[in-house]
Amino acid sequence: MKPTAIVTGGSRGIGRAIATELVKTHRVIATWRGRKDAADSLREETGCEIFQCEIASREDRAALLAFARQRFEKLDLLVNNAGMAPRERRDLLEASEESFDELMATNLKGPHFLTQQAARWMAASGDGRIAFVTSISSYTASVNRGEYCISKAGLSMSVALYAQRLAEAGIKVFEIRPGIIRTDMIAKVEKAYDEKIAAGLLPQRRMGEGIDVAKAVRAIADGLLDYSTGQILNVDGGFSLRSL
Ligand SMILES: NC(=O)c1ccc[n+]([C@@H]2O[C@H](COP(=O)([O-])OP(=O)(O)OC[C@H]3O[C@@H](n4cnc5c(N)ncnc54)[C@H](OP(=O)(O)O)[C@@H]3O)[C@@H](O)[C@H]2O)c1
Repeated sequence: MKPTAIVTGGSRGIGRAIATELVKTHRVIATWRGRKDAADSLREETGCEIFQCEIASREDRAALLAFARQRFEKLDLLVNNAGMAPRERRDLLEASEESFDELMATNLKGPHFLTQQAARWMAASGDGRIAFVTSISSYTASVNRGEYCISKAGLSMSVALYAQRLAEAGIKVFEIRPGIIRTDMIAKVEKAYDEKIAAGLLPQRRMGEGIDVAKAVRAIADGLLDYSTGQILNVDGGFSLRSL
């Protein structure tokens, strides 16, 4: 029997690349929130199952795991990928509490508590892997989307906490920190980023693609990093390197 995986936000962008990679070896449930068309096309292309889940909703998270338990005897891999940028980029001195709350619920609370529930299930089999997709924004201050940075910084701590807590249960936990990846999320600023990259922002002078992140998930899924729980995989073209 093939191993099993859940990929949140698997219908588009990075999550879609991850789901497409994982179906080669895993039975995959990919979640979506509002774009059913994208989820349907993923199912047609890959044969994976799809499930609608607002990650910020406790009920939806419970329904997702109930759905997965109906299909899978055990869960081998959870990829916490679903996330969003602020609807509008606003300076730190103008940003709203509403946007802050939305980003915390989607990018931090949702994956944190989905992991809590999934980990209980995995713990029963004494095995499992969990990958969190955070961001270079975990440690890079962008004052025009501070709430995004705070949500991702919090999610990095969620990784450290779960890696500690779940090691004894045989569950390995990883953080993947993408840099600038070509998806709908950055469409509005894609041209500006391309120009910055051409000017030397990244040691590797190209924007990342979803498949670059999917390859990191592949290494985790295949167990190649099993003695490295809690580690951070920077998938950022060298953005995190310092130079003088
Ligand atoms: N692109 C980048 O440069 C970049 C860099 C670093 C980190 N990341 C992170 O990578 C992850 C994926 O980003 P992406 O660029 O692939 O974004 P994307 O193209 O906008 O896709 C986002 C995916 O997440 C789902 N989603 C969004 N909000 C959700 C919610 N509240 N509940 C459930 N699902 C939700 C979307 O579903 P629907 O389409 O159905 O709404 C979609 O499947 C995010 O966590 C993001 O923060 C991205």
